[in-house]
Amino acid sequence: MKVGVIGLGYVGLTLSIASALRGIKIYGIENNSATLESIQGGKAHFYEPFIDELLQLCIDRNFFVSKTFEKGQDLDAFIITIGTPLIGDDKKVNYQFLLSSLDALAACYTGKEVVILRSTISVGTTRKIVLPYLSKISGLPESKIKVAFCPERTIEGKAIEELYSLPQVIGANNSESFEMASLFFKTLTDSIIQVPSLEMAELVKLFNNTYRDVHFAMGNAFNEIAQSFGIDGYSAIEAANKGYKRSNIGLPGYVGGPCLEKDPYILSENMPNHNGKNFIINSRKYNESLEDSTLNWVKSNYSPKAIIGISGLAFKGIPETSDLRGSVAVNIARKIVLAGFKVALHDFTAKNEELADLNLGEVSTDFFELVEKAETVLIMNNSKRYLNIDKSKLEKVIGSAKYTIFDSWNILPQEIKNIEALDIKTLGNYKILEHDE
Ligand SMILES: NC(=O)c1ccc[n+]([C@@H]2O[C@H](COP(=O)([O-])OP(=O)(O)OC[C@H]3O[C@@H](n4cnc5c(N)ncnc54)[C@H](O)[C@@H]3O)[C@@H](O)[C@H]2O)c1
Repeated sequence: MKVGVIGLGYVGLTLSIASALRGIKIYGIENNSATLESIQGGKAHFYEPFIDELLQLCIDRNFFVSKTFEKGQDLDAFIITIGTPLIGDDKKVNYQFLLSSLDALAACYTGKEVVILRSTISVGTTRKIVLPYLSKISGLPESKIKVAFCPERTIEGKAIEELYSLPQVIGANNSESFEMASLFFKTLTDSIIQVPSLEMAELVKLFNNTYRDVHFAMGNAFNEIAQSFGIDGYSAIEAANKGYKRSNIGLPGYVGGPCLEKDPYILSENMPNHNGKNFIINSRKYNESLEDSTLNWVKSNYSPKAIIGISGLAFKGIPETSDLRGSVAVNIARKIVLAGFKVALHDFTAKNEELADLNLGEVSTDFFELVEKAETVLIMNNSKRYLNIDKSKLEKVIGSAKYTIFDSWNILPQEIKNIEALDIKTLGNYKILEHDE
């Protein structure tokens, strides 16, 4: 098969590499010049284990990249993997990139190809936006157009591995579209789940991410409830889960990232108000409310002259990623700065230049420098690298005066917690929510 991929971000690049390595000829287009150059040079523009090595195996062999498609390029399929960010106070999807990707494929679209939409979109978008557009540019009736919605459900940090192992959900507008989409995805995975409509496939993706968001919101709510009884929420949830297979309550923690911060809003788009919609939006807003609770805690414990250290800016630590998009830590850092404080930043995986580009505060080259610089440190993600912090080095930097580290994920090992001068707070024992009126 010869497949055109539009947008070589996290989703487009990992999918292109995984399928090029399975023998498919991939023609990827990317309109960001820096991203394109980096890929052409065999270097991904984001962190993913072994991605550069895998890219170098296929670039210019089975995987060709450029800025645009050419007229007469004879492809079997297009896969659209552009971003779908939210805009405005009502948090609706900005379809500017989807429309520009359709304009880009128009250069060589003939009507015989299947167009696969993989970006996360609101229910009905494939039928209402993509199908009429393709019909218009090809002059064919909508019944003759081949489209499918095939959601991306991999986790950043393990994307290539999961492309080869997760079931692929496919919703198509007719059997020919399904067969063509399925032919492509069968080269990646043994498990294809055919759903009866484009809309069901769109919904499945949104269900998966909204489920996770609500699941974590419940962990945060239970934590707050436990604390209102003077009980450590973290330990209470651990005890409720231990050896009891019918309980898998999420531990308290910040919930963000480029998908979870937006997908519940995308799910609720074009939906009338009802209890189901209120439930998911309230859960999302509840997760978001941890940002203001943390800000309030900083405000009530430190004076604006203080430098607040923030470590773990990437939106999650496991699997490891450098992705700062949708990061709660970045949102909190921004709010702390707006409240008049200075912040100093550190992350184990994101590059220092990326942290500097946030324009929030000084970047520390390592964790110890951050502790030295800041009056307190907030550890915001669960990177496994916190497990290997050198105890004696940390002891030396802290000295004998009391020093507070807010270990939101309770990730620091016991030997670090045992440092006498250290006052450790976690989301479980920290009365971080008590200021949340
Ligand atoms: N990141 C993830 O792990 C993940 C997982 C599941 C679903 N998704 C969804 O997949 C979609 C893509 O996510 P992403 O993280 O890869 O986004 P991204 O922003 O990293 O990548 C999109 C890329 O498309 C390029 N682009 C935009 N318009 C273009 C055009 N007209 N022609 C060529 N290139 C164009 C951009 O420059 C960018 O590099 C989103 O809808 C997202 O919600 C992402």
